[in-house]
Amino acid sequence: MINAGTIKLKDDEFAELADIIYKHSGITFSATKKYLLENRLSRRIQELNFNSFKDYIYYLKYDVKKMQEMITLLNLVTINETYFLRERPQMDYLVNKVIPEMISKGKRNIKIWSAACSTGEEPYSIAILLKESGILSKARVDIFASDINTEVLETAQKGEYRTVSFRGVPPTIINKYFEKDGFIYKLSPEIKNMVTFYKANLIDRMASSRVGMADAIFCRNVLIYFDIPAKQKVIDMFYKTLAKDGFLFLGHSETLNKITDSFKMHNFGGGIVYIKE
Ligand SMILES: C[S@@+](CC[C@H](N)C(=O)[O-])C[C@H]1O[C@@H](n2cnc3c(N)ncnc32)[C@H](O)[C@@H]1O
Repeated sequence: MINAGTIKLKDDEFAELADIIYKHSGITFSATKKYLLENRLSRRIQELNFNSFKDYIYYLKYDVKKMQEMITLLNLVTINETYFLRERPQMDYLVNKVIPEMISKGKRNIKIWSAACSTGEEPYSIAILLKESGILSKARVDIFASDINTEVLETAQKGEYRTVSFRGVPPTIINKYFEKDGFIYKLSPEIKNMVTFYKANLIDRMASSRVGMADAIFCRNVLIYFDIPAKQKVIDMFYKTLAKDGFLFLGHSETLNKITDSFKMHNFGGGIVYIKE
């Protein structure tokens, strides 16, 4: 039976749970975020008919279903906030400057990876801007998009959105690429077909195996949840995945400062981009 209410998370239980989450995802929960785990996991614990976090931690560690539960746990604790054309100057720079320059140097196959894509607004925004630019007649651009959270990936693959995903998106773009059905906006198949989604954990060094070599990686608004060793692991994997002169776009509040000095930093006017030398 499911009871209402929050189950108390004791300090030692919090430390153990935070450690499990960190080891499986790189996400760090400081003590000030204890309430967040309490709020997000209490219902799940009640669904499983447990009374305490202690029982839940035991289940996560020893039950035959522990691997399945880890997926559910990470689905519940990740922060998936995103929207179309977020931090748009980076996307415009990619589409109007980076890719045309690659094409002018003779490149005809370009790969882009949105490495923590949440519900898909980021890779689909890039796809829409590419379509708008007319550049797709000059080169083939493959867009890969991954996330650790299986639920957001299902939403991304459906390509159905609500108004909250469209903060500041020009109505001309919405009308051109979405079909309105009640409160739902359905993305046109021509854009949906431009993006390949798959599940990947950024702290797994195989996360990029589906992509192979990438010419540009977007990893925005996720490293803020990682500590320095986890960031270094992810950035090292990106470095190996990027082609020479490849581009790495991070979120506005994220930086490679204290992480690595193997990228060249370039200020393009609308923000920073890191280039593999
Ligand atoms: C705040 S969203 C950012 C979405 C998008 N990049 C943007 O900037 O709008 C962060 C995403 O990172 C994902 N994430 C967190 N840890 C991850 C990990 N270890 N591997 C892959 N994705 C992860 C979350 O599931 C979430 O969807």
